[in-house]
Amino acid sequence: MCGITGYIGDNKTTDILIDGLKRLEYRGYDSCGIAVVDAKNELYLRRVSGRVDALDKLVAGDPAKGPKSGVGHTRWATHGAPSEDNAHPHTDCTGRVVVVHNGIIENYLDLKEKLQAGGHKFKSETDTEVIAHLMEEKLKSLHVQEKAVRAEMLEPVFFEAFRRTVAELKGSFALSMVWASCPAMLLAARMHSPLVIGLGKGENFIASDVSAFLKFTKRVVFLNDGEMAAVRKDGVDYYDFKGKKTSKDAVTIQWDSTMAEKGGYKHFMLKEIHEQAESVENTLRGRLLPLGGDILKAETGLTTASMKGFAALQFVACGTAYHACLVGRFLFENFGIPAHADVASEFTDRAKLMHKDTLVVAISQSGETADTLFAVREAKAAGARVLAITNTVGSTLTREADYVLHTHCGPEIGVASTKAFLGQLAAIYLLAGHFAAARGILSSTEARRYAEDLLKVPRLIEETLAGEKEIAKVAEAFAASEHFLFISRHINYPIALEGALKIKEISYVHAEGYAAGEMKHGPIAIIYKGMPLLAVAPTGRALELMAGNVEEAKARGADVVAIVDAASRKTVKANRYIVLPDAPELFTPLLTVIPLQIFAYYVALAKKCDIDKPRNLAKSVTVR
Ligand code: F6R
Repeated sequence: MCGITGYIGDNKTTDILIDGLKRLEYRGYDSCGIAVVDAKNELYLRRVSGRVDALDKLVAGDPAKGPKSGVGHTRWATHGAPSEDNAHPHTDCTGRVVVVHNGIIENYLDLKEKLQAGGHKFKSETDTEVIAHLMEEKLKSLHVQEKAVRAEMLEPVFFEAFRRTVAELKGSFALSMVWASCPAMLLAARMHSPLVIGLGKGENFIASDVSAFLKFTKRVVFLNDGEMAAVRKDGVDYYDFKGKKTSKDAVTIQWDSTMAEKGGYKHFMLKEIHEQAESVENTLRGRLLPLGGDILKAETGLTTASMKGFAALQFVACGTAYHACLVGRFLFENFGIPAHADVASEFTDRAKLMHKDTLVVAISQSGETADTLFAVREAKAAGARVLAITNTVGSTLTREADYVLHTHCGPEIGVASTKAFLGQLAAIYLLAGHFAAARGILSSTEARRYAEDLLKVPRLIEETLAGEKEIAKVAEAFAASEHFLFISRHINYPIALEGALKIKEISYVHAEGYAAGEMKHGPIAIIYKGMPLLAVAPTGRALELMAGNVEEAKARGADVVAIVDAASRKTVKANRYIVLPDAPELFTPLLTVIPLQIFAYYVALAKKCDIDKPRNLAKSVTVR
């Protein structure tokens, strides 16, 4: 997730681009930049590491002269740490071709090697920069003589070079491009990342979402995957990736700009819940096939040989990330690979037992959580090697770890973690698949099956999200309750803990998550008539026992909501049901957590709580 802006017209180009970037900062805020073509067809490029305010100050002190068109970008790092060099826009070797990009170019390493072999010099660590150099190659191959012809005559060449560049990209991208030699046209393309065109009078806009330009126009055209746009100040043409013209209808947006930042959702938390299929898809993209091959090596440093060598895994994290650790423990143990999970703040003595054959897996959305960092330092001091799973490129955790696997969820703004958790789970499933295949625990056929099933999860997440209204009704029925119980078993036990944590955080009510088998050992005593109890009971090894636990709770008066699939619904006799799509047992946590997030959200909404900024909590806990 990054924010893109583009503008062409007679108004103040730099001001419009920067204003748009400020509105898009919720999409990423580690570095930013703009590139505009000035009155002399020269490129004016300014970038900073940090927030848009700093860019604004820089540009105000040294403004562009007569800017006509340009692009801007606010970044959430995926490849290369946050820094000025890695900030967008990126340029080719001539410094005249400029690109801004949101997404991940899967084949960037291949492209980069070829381009470097052809003499291209790279200035950043990003995947994006390959696009500018590839464009330079395509322009060269069209034998364009920029200086010999008028700028307008270069438009077909610019477009064709862009089309050929886009055709070679694999992965997800929203792109916008400027060529200083052809300033009357901006180009844009979309594949799996959002991009929208704003239609003004004598001016047009490009952005990742409408909030960037809503104060100038409400007439917009949403690009679909596989579409490109050639944007001039007096009109926009649309094409497919083969270069065939298409027609598109404009729509009028009714949102105000705050609603637009949240994509029309009332809260960032709800928006982020709805972004979870994308979080999983982005985290798996290009990293799964073939399982057990060395495809994680270039990015993470983990080789097949190292995955075979570790005697055990030790997960550490805090809060929601710790619940991801627990899922990891069950998953690795299921494959017969020894694994433990601890909350980072209670790891001190066990840290001393770590040694060089232990892989400590530290999970943190922010990469800055003090307890997690402390645990990592102690484990390293004892000789362990550390793999960081984090959503934040360049964070302290990434600098201290031996191996790094980034989740690609984009910035999480809501304090209660949702999409980052799904990204963490996706990373763990990815890792477990690679470990199991590398160690021969999964045969090649089984590994392929595992990968294929995992790749189906984003679609199942979408299906689960489609049940939001039904889940909201159940939540509203319990909005006045002061106590909630969540139970489950095995790999869904951590999901019961997560369900309880979510509701505590944003609704301020008392909630407990329990291993269902523990109920009879004490907690069952607290059940009273009408107490809400959410039982996570998908089809799988724990189903019969879960059905028994539900009977026992109901017999003592609990009002049981069972999170089931079509088959397990027949076994579990609850008061109410939330029915999920069928999924292989091991992958069910990627789905079962979603209704619990939605449930917590709607309970908090009914209680009129400050959902995105719950009391007493901070997004990143940097003290112990
Ligand atoms: C819960 C939540 C927290 C974090 C925890 C760790 O919704 O967000 O429990 O999971 O503070 O934070 P990170 O992942 O940044 O280390």
